[in-house]
Amino acid sequence: MTAANPLRDPRDRRLPRIAGPCSVIMFGVTGDLARKKLIPAIYDLAHRGLLPPGFALVGFARHDFGDRTFASMLKDAAKAGARTEWSETVWKQLAAGIRFVPGQFDDDDAWDRLAETLAELDRTQGTGGNHAFYLSIPPGLFPVVVSKIKEHGLATSSEGWRRVVIEKPFGHDLESARELNRLVDDVFPRTSVFRIDHYLGKETVQNILALRFANGMFEPIWNSHYVDHVQITMAEDIGIGSRAGYYDGIGAARDVIQNHLLQLMALVAMEEPVSLDANSLRLEKQKILANASAPTELSKHTARAQYTAGWAGGVEVEGYLDEDGIPEDSRTETYAAMRIDIGTRRWAGVPFYLRTGKRLGRRVTEVAVVFKRAPHLPFRKHDVTELGQNALVLRIQPDEGVTLRFGAKVPGTTMEIRDVNMDFAYGGAFVESSPEAYERLILDVLLGDPPLFPQQEEVELSWKILDPVIGHWRRQRTIDSYQAGTWGPSSADAMIQRDGRTWRRP
Ligand code: BG6
Repeated sequence: MTAANPLRDPRDRRLPRIAGPCSVIMFGVTGDLARKKLIPAIYDLAHRGLLPPGFALVGFARHDFGDRTFASMLKDAAKAGARTEWSETVWKQLAAGIRFVPGQFDDDDAWDRLAETLAELDRTQGTGGNHAFYLSIPPGLFPVVVSKIKEHGLATSSEGWRRVVIEKPFGHDLESARELNRLVDDVFPRTSVFRIDHYLGKETVQNILALRFANGMFEPIWNSHYVDHVQITMAEDIGIGSRAGYYDGIGAARDVIQNHLLQLMALVAMEEPVSLDANSLRLEKQKILANASAPTELSKHTARAQYTAGWAGGVEVEGYLDEDGIPEDSRTETYAAMRIDIGTRRWAGVPFYLRTGKRLGRRVTEVAVVFKRAPHLPFRKHDVTELGQNALVLRIQPDEGVTLRFGAKVPGTTMEIRDVNMDFAYGGAFVESSPEAYERLILDVLLGDPPLFPQQEEVELSWKILDPVIGHWRRQRTIDSYQAGTWGPSSADAMIQRDGRTWRRP
């Protein structure tokens, strides 16, 4: 029996989780996501000392850059997007493991070169046969890449591990999601597939679990006896930018409600898992998703719209239909709102309102748990006109924290009550700034740690919730509009007002 290393006690929180020797092979390495998020996240991990010396990054792309140009392109991206400070020493160490393989995705010679590159890295960088294939590519390219990985014998190895990382969209409806899954399933075992929903990598999203299950005071009121409704808002001030090709035909509901917002809802609504391991966590989320749906009268409980010209950050901006690459008759929604009901004892009668949009008033994501009013108010009527409903607001971004909103007496000689906020701000409570979601998720892939990655079941259940809504919208000939810089269409206000409620101004 080997003795445990006394210097590596798992209870010691000073010991960081560091990835073992391995490589990431990136498909779509010249794309927006890689440039803005993935490459900077890899640099930040290296800078934080969380990548091993035997780490390698391989780019596979059509353009023929050559190793040097490729490395300097990555350096520019890392420098521009890094969260931690820049260090030439860190970059030099990373750069020693950077390789580039030019070629079309269906070119067998290129795949042979990729296989040789991986073998070379195992020899010279000590990557030990551990390789993660990161697919940051449009879904149309999935079949060819996944089948070539298999054909060239790269999906398995007698030495080390093989993993595949998939970026959304996971299909555009239930059927296509299943199709996509069959493809991946045929090549990689379930445990080697890591589906990215980058919201789950955010500190503030993981804090939903801490807030709910590490504390005693919230659980007794976390149910239909006390909660009136929940509002989940993901607002962006940006438009679609240069993403017309991806976004048009997809729209707000498929882009973010199917994944980020339904995941937030599941975390807020689920029962306490028996542990935080991947299986227990996924099981509880699945129970919620399996019992959630939009009400049957979809025209009353959903809303969708497109932005028209307006203002963003003091600058005049174009409407969606005038953006580059958008057909003038496009009916793709840039704003979507819907009510979701969850059929469980805890949540019966408590609607969850989800809304998201581009070109809204400002960038903010929050979950507001809005409580029922006190059953009796022993105050004069005009003393409580400024008293709203109590709310616990989980501020996901950008102003990370938690707000408790309740009524307090206004100083003075009368008993006037007004809403006030009690705030917890990450910036004030912790010295360390939150890592980017992708830092956490890439590290978890390299460590093979699965709790933050949704599985196919969650993906399918989310499509089951959304498919009827999208089907209903498809049958409509027109789409509402809202001016850029506002908080969405009047139809979304009418939707929630029908239930006697109003949207919070985040
Ligand atoms: C992505 C969507 O998943 O999330 C984008 O495809 C959106 O449309 C982005 O802009 C928002 O991410 P974040 O982390 O800035 O809220």
